[in-house]
Amino acid sequence: MRTPVIAGNWKMYKNIDEAKSLAIELKNLVSEVRDRQVFICPSFVCLAAVRDIVKDTRIALGAQNVNYEEEGAYTGEVSADMLKSIGVSFVILGHSERRAYFHETDESINKKLKKVLSKSMTPIVCVGELLEDRERGSTADVIKKQIHGCLENISPEDLIKIVIAYEPVWAIGTGKTASPEQAEEVHALIRGELKSKYNNSVSEQVRIQYGGSVKPGNIDELMKKPNIDGALVGGASLKAEDFARIVKFEG
Ligand code: 13P
Repeated sequence: MRTPVIAGNWKMYKNIDEAKSLAIELKNLVSEVRDRQVFICPSFVCLAAVRDIVKDTRIALGAQNVNYEEEGAYTGEVSADMLKSIGVSFVILGHSERRAYFHETDESINKKLKKVLSKSMTPIVCVGELLEDRERGSTADVIKKQIHGCLENISPEDLIKIVIAYEPVWAIGTGKTASPEQAEEVHALIRGELKSKYNNSVSEQVRIQYGGSVKPGNIDELMKKPNIDGALVGGASLKAEDFARIVKFEG
């Protein structure tokens, strides 16, 4: 059985006071949740304050990015060690916004992945096709290329520590969710690729989240699909009530 994993990606929203209020509200709303993992990813500058609020709760702390170098003269960057030392246990890697605006590639994501694993944090590796890819019928090719590129030289022992997030770029922040069937099709494809690259037992253990306009109104149907193991939520994670409802999905 794969433990469902629900995450809030706060992106570049919420100043320190807003982040603290949201974390407090959330803590009160999801305190009784037991059978699923939950983490929230505030901006780097809000991590410490949010950590203090969610400590001793079932909400874990995540980061939205990391640098792949150990340390050094990289102005403006944040290392995996720094994240670990502040209490981060999950790190989102290769979000489509980072691929689109900050030149991230499967190769740099692979380096970040190895660094995050070396610090015993859980990486969330994001993949997803553009609208043009889908319309051209090349979704499967794009996803396979991203999966193989991001996971190069990752051992089966490490693979099972990784969470994969399927986020079709056309569904992010657009209100256009992939239908549960469309999402399931790609999730099954990803699991199939992991099975052929590794083996069945390993591929069955990897959790695959769906992300892209997840809302209280569509989470239950998405979570009913056999290969959908959680959600990576953007906009709806900025509203405590909405995120709490998503965390409490009935699937
Ligand atoms: P939305 O939920 O706002 O579509 O964002 C999804 C996302 O990018 C999560 O990482």
